[in-house]
Amino acid sequence: MDSFIIDGGTRLRGTLRIAGSKNASLPVMAAALLAGGKSVIQDIPNLQDIRSQIELLKLLGCRVERLPDGKLEIEVIDQTNSHAPYDVVRKMRASICVLGPLLAKRGEGRVSMPGGCAIGDRPVDIHLRGLRALGANIELDGGDIIARATKLHGAEVFLGGNFGSTVLGTANVMSAATLAEGKTVIECAACEPEIVDLANYLNAMGAKITGQGTPRVMVEGVAELSGTTHRIIPDRIEAGTFMVAAAISNGELNLENVRIDHLMAAVDKLRSIGVIVEKVGTGVNVASARRLEAAIITTQPYPGFPTDLQAQFMALLAVANGNSIVSEKIFPDRFMHVAELTRLGARMHREGATVIIEGEQQLIGAPVMASDLRASAALVLAGLAARGTTTINRVYHIDRGYEKIEERLNSLGAKIKRVDQSEGE
Ligand code: EPU
Repeated sequence: MDSFIIDGGTRLRGTLRIAGSKNASLPVMAAALLAGGKSVIQDIPNLQDIRSQIELLKLLGCRVERLPDGKLEIEVIDQTNSHAPYDVVRKMRASICVLGPLLAKRGEGRVSMPGGCAIGDRPVDIHLRGLRALGANIELDGGDIIARATKLHGAEVFLGGNFGSTVLGTANVMSAATLAEGKTVIECAACEPEIVDLANYLNAMGAKITGQGTPRVMVEGVAELSGTTHRIIPDRIEAGTFMVAAAISNGELNLENVRIDHLMAAVDKLRSIGVIVEKVGTGVNVASARRLEAAIITTQPYPGFPTDLQAQFMALLAVANGNSIVSEKIFPDRFMHVAELTRLGARMHREGATVIIEGEQQLIGAPVMASDLRASAALVLAGLAARGTTTINRVYHIDRGYEKIEERLNSLGAKIKRVDQSEGE
């Protein structure tokens, strides 16, 4: 199992291109199951989660080929197997987003029920409620969700839950509704840019979706969809992570391929903390103003502050001046990084879904353990700011969502070594 050894304290400087969005790519790739003919999807990042999704699509009868320049060609050639087994789903929860497309196109989808993960319980009850409203019959067998329908029909579907809407649930229901008979109105739909990207891809395939990006999405069912070309949006979470890297290292980065309009809540917080963020062409320039101020952050559904940047901002606030408060309103247990950041000298006090951070700490390198994707990113960021050496174990988590992060940070001046520490694990 690989580890990172980080020598902290260097200032990051330079230019970096932000990759295509992982969380937009996964449902778009799943939606290719709905179409006849081939789709060519551009700017798919080269990540572990994407490789898992490719394996799953192959298992479900797709021909999938990587073309040069980050393009992926997907074509359904065999519709006999509609089962996403536990072995695949346990590696990546997002496999659940094949359920809607399989149901709508093949009349049946069988997907192993995803379990919880390091960021907490992750139920799929709202996905299933939505698919049932479209006429699916859903049962559980041997840990698998089996969804069946001879023909889906349009319906009014409400996707709200205790923590707001659901991103992949909206992807599932919206994808399924494209081939349903009649009109579907999704109320309390997720408004995330990844949902807009999926709707744009589906529309390019011949679907009739309007209202994407708002809480009311309307889908007029069509008889069939056909493959098309589509470019994935830039990864807003990767962009936000590198913005924090510039700030926490007292550096200055020019990030290319950034949709700043997808990141306004995070940019607003960075500016209030004292980080200079300027839009330059199709990217941003981010520079630390040296003195970083405390902040109060509450994660919320889009366009609010993203939960996927909570851990990274917590690392930043550990070195800012004054006391900060971070509340998690999407995944109330998503705080595995707190104990590890504390090992680096951060002062954090957790009360339920809120953490109080006493800032102004000089972080000091130590061995720490990565627990999930964004927590790992937070530890890398903290390691960049820490004095001395930080060793992060189990960095496979970070490879799920950031392509060669150590090489890219090193190209900006960081000192990170990847080592294989499998012995003794
Ligand atoms: N929820 C339910 N029932 C459901 C579905 C969700 O109660 O049927 C709850 C969840 O437990 C959570 C909230 O609703 O409290 C929101 O969960 P959501 O369904 O929106 O999460 P997701 O779609 O499974 C995606 C991203 C996550 C990101 C969340 C929230 C992908 C592949 N994953 O997950 O990304 O944190 O939306 O924005 O798109 C990551 O990239 O590190 C990551 C975890």
